[in-house]
Order: sequence, then C-alpha cells, then structure tokens
Amino acid sequence: MLNIGIIGYGFIGKIHAQHYMSNPNVNRVIIADPLDINRKNAERMGFKTYEIFEDMLNLEKLDAVSICTPHHTHRDIALRVMDFRIPILLEKPAATSREEIKEIIEKAERLDIKVMVAHSLRFSDTFRLAKKLIEEEEIGKILFIIGKYLAFKDYNQYPKWKTTKKEAWGGTLFRDGLHIVDAILWLSGKEIASAKGLPLNLFFDTEVEDTFLGTINFQDGSIAQLSMSSITKGFEQIGLEIYGEKGSIKVNNEELVLYKEDDIPKYIKPAIGASDFWKNQIDHFVDCIINNKEPLVTLKEAEKTMKAIFMLYEL
Ligand SMILES: NC(=O)c1ccc[n+]([C@@H]2O[C@H](COP(=O)([O-])OP(=O)(O)OC[C@H]3O[C@@H](n4cnc5c(N)ncnc54)[C@H](O)[C@@H]3O)[C@@H](O)[C@H]2O)c1
Repeated sequence: MLNIGIIGYGFIGKIHAQHYMSNPNVNRVIIADPLDINRKNAERMGFKTYEIFEDMLNLEKLDAVSICTPHHTHRDIALRVMDFRIPILLEKPAATSREEIKEIIEKAERLDIKVMVAHSLRFSDTFRLAKKLIEEEEIGKILFIIGKYLAFKDYNQYPKWKTTKKEAWGGTLFRDGLHIVDAILWLSGKEIASAKGLPLNLFFDTEVEDTFLGTINFQDGSIAQLSMSSITKGFEQIGLEIYGEKGSIKVNNEELVLYKEDDIPKYIKPAIGASDFWKNQIDHFVDCIINNKEPLVTLKEAEKTMKAIFMLYEL
C-alpha cells in the first residue's frame, strides 16, 4: 500500500487526492501547500498537511509524489523531490523552457527515477480508441488534422498566477492547447518539420494569450491546424478531426465517430460516453509504481510535446 504526497492542493491537487483515495493500492495521502486556506480544506477532507513540501518529504515515508503547483515551480520542485528517490507524477507543462525540461530529464535518468507527466487526454477512453483505430490503419495515411481547445475560461476569476508571464509562462496554448498538441503527436506518431503560431489577446488584457492559432507542418507533408481559445462562450470544443486517405476520425472525450470508405461509405460511432481521464491517469501511475512499468507519458514524450509548443510560439 502506497503513501502519496501531493504538492499543491489547488484545483488539480484536489482531483489527484480524490482519485488516489479511491485507488485500492493507496494507503494515505498527505498534502503540502503554503496557503492556510488550502491546508484547512485538505484537513477537512481528513488529510494530514504540511506548509512546506520539503518538511513533508523529510518527515513522512512517501512512496510517490504528485506535483500540482504553478508552472514556474515545476523544475525546482521536481529536482528537489528527486533527491528523495521516489516516483513523481508531474503536472503539465513539465517545465517552462527547453533547458528546464532537459535538467529534469538529466537528473531523473542519472538517479533512475520514474517520472510521469500528466498529459491527461492520453487517458481518455475515446482518445485511446482513436490511437487503436489509427494503428490498425482504419483511416490509412493521415493527411490533415484539425485540433481545437475552445473553452471559455474567465481569466478574471483565475488564480492570479495563471495570467502572469513569470508564473504561468503562457496562456491558452501553454496551459490547455498543450493537451491537443500532445494528442496530435501521440496519435499520429509524426515528426514536425516546422510550425507557425499566432498568440492573441482578443478579450482579456493579460500578459498571457487568451487565443492561439497555429499550424504544424509534418516531415511527411501532412499538416495540423490548431485553434485554441479561452474566450469562446457557449460552444466548448476540445478534440480532433483526423482526415486520412481511407477515412476520418472525429474524437473528443464524449464521443468518437469513424467515417470509412469501404464498399459503402459509412459513419460508425464505436464509442460514446465520457470517461474520467483524470481517474485513469492516477490509476495508471499507481500501476506503474506497483508493477514497475514505464509510464505512458515519460519525460522524453513530454519533451517532444514541449518542443512543439515552443516551436509554435516561434521560440
Ligand atoms: N492535467 C490537467 O488536466 C490539468 C488541469 C488543471 C491544471 N493542471 C495543471 O496543474 C498545475 C496546477 O494548476 P491548478 O489549476 O491546480 O492551480 P491552482 O492555483 O488551483 O493550484 C496550485 C496550488 O499550488 C500551491 N503552491 C504554490 N506553490 C507551492 C509550493 N512551493 N509548494 C506547495 N504548493 C504550492 C498553491 O497554493 C495552490 O494551492 C498547473 O501546472 C496546471 O497547468 C493540469
């Protein structure tokens, strides 16, 4: 039975805690958060808490840690946790520069520490089915992908750090669109030739963008078009359209539709119904620890996605 430490008990830290507690291989969850109010909330849920994460690491016998803190802290916290030689589930984005992620990879490899990055859409049942259908060549060679992360996020109600360059680093692409870019690279298995991007502030006057348009050109001549926005009220669209030589797939977390041109062209809906990708992600991480497996999203995989993100910002 595992004892898990969670560093950062904000929006996603609470979700990690809930799913660890429902996993039969987890014994205890312990929380570290510098904010009194967050520690009080955690204590109300029955969790022991620490103000300083290093005290938690020193005083508790932890088997693994989730890092659920603001973007600019990921590198330093991950490097410090590695000194305790325990597996880490690191929230995305893994780091805020190419150099930072390299440092994390170097230390994890040197100390042989298991690190998984929380690219959560990979744990959605419908996205997993898309991967299987593509591998089984149901739609043939992929020619064109449209990726969207359109969801209204009120930056005025957000924790302040999410809107500052120093702490969040980026906006809608860096924070949310990353899931879509990651899904495109994972599902297609393609290598990037070049990328272009346009960060915009169409509604919120913040240091980080509220909208991002982009294109990725792949080495095989195919292309992905990206629309990410936090200002789109009313019609949430988080998913992909994948157009191949023999058919197409439209996928989001609620549904997958396959269009095929065999003898008779037809639409098939092989998957309907949302899955809890956050629960699947925690269960996968626990399984990787208990059974010493390699996580589905390694640091190297995360680095590939981060490189694509930095190319889109044209850095
Ligand atoms: N995988 C996903 O689907 C998903 C969804 C939401 C957020 N996230 C990611 O999770 C991370 C946190 O986002 P959030 O929405 O929970 O933010 P949040 O602001 O709600 O929570 C962050 C928490 O970290 C705490 N914190 C800050 N510095 C700390 C430190 N040194 N030690 C311990 N705690 C510290 C804050 O007090 C706060 O409670 C970000 O990287 C974000 O991109 C991922």
